[in-house]
Amino acid sequence: MSASSGDRLAIEELSVARGGRTVVRQVSLEITGGEVTALLGPNGAGKSSMVLAIGGVLKPLGGKILLDGRDFAGRRPERIRGAGIAIVPEGRRLLPELTVGENLRVATYTLSGADADTGRTRALELFPELEKRLDNPARALSGGEQQMVVLAQALVSHPRFVVIDELSLGLAPVVVNRLVPTIRSIAESGIGVLLIEQFATLALGLANRAYIMEGGRIQFSGLASQLRENPELLHGAYLLRGRNGAAGAPAPASAAPPP
Ligand SMILES: Nc1ncnc2c1ncn2[C@@H]1O[C@H](COP(=O)(O)OP(=O)(O)O)[C@@H](O)[C@H]1O
Ligand SMILES: [Mg+2]
Repeated sequence: MSASSGDRLAIEELSVARGGRTVVRQVSLEITGGEVTALLGPNGAGKSSMVLAIGGVLKPLGGKILLDGRDFAGRRPERIRGAGIAIVPEGRRLLPELTVGENLRVATYTLSGADADTGRTRALELFPELEKRLDNPARALSGGEQQMVVLAQALVSHPRFVVIDELSLGLAPVVVNRLVPTIRSIAESGIGVLLIEQFATLALGLANRAYIMEGGRIQFSGLASQLRENPELLHGAYLLRGRNGAAGAPAPASAAPPP
């Protein structure tokens, strides 16, 4: 499946329940091919639940996931992935006893041999440091390397859209800085990236458009530059704490007092 700029994935009025409680309430947002779109919001806002619904892991209560005029809401994960929508769920783990190469192969099992080969080549171009790790068990990798394999798993299937839930979670700043240009080049290749990220500064530095979600609803939708220039729009100043520049320690999103 090839990517091209101008592709659009539209989420329309998506609602999702967890444990009998509605935690995503009629959320609408758009992801554009060739761009990074940031989704910000405090812990518990419903971001990860929405990601799982986009990926078909959770069945939405209602709403649409529209691509090429077709609605994928409630479809099975394989079907959604096959349409070109890949999700990287929060805290995804590799199969620790399998090698890196095997973990990548697991992600291509539905593809033809040729598509699997080109997908794998492309993913290794983005993460050349994985090349020498292909025969190592995943458990032997650093946290940063494991996150690269997780991202590579999403990219081997030639997605048109990638939804990345918490890119920097648990990673050292130096590793995060390594990943930032990669996210940029993924978007430059034509893929639409939805980046969910606890460090607003990082996400807004990459994004064209941005959304803020709180209490299951979209509270802001606009240009990332609007939020960069008017940080007070990030209501709840905790969204900007933690990594102004690369050196800050991650702050728990909801516990931080205003600066
Ligand atoms: N497995 C689950 N079972 C029940 N409730 C859950 C589960 N996972 C998350 N929740 C609840 O759903 C709400 C939204 O959580 P989540 O989607 O993880 O938000 P975010 O990713 O923005 O932090 C929270 O109130 C959370 O406690
Ligand atoms: Mg989350």
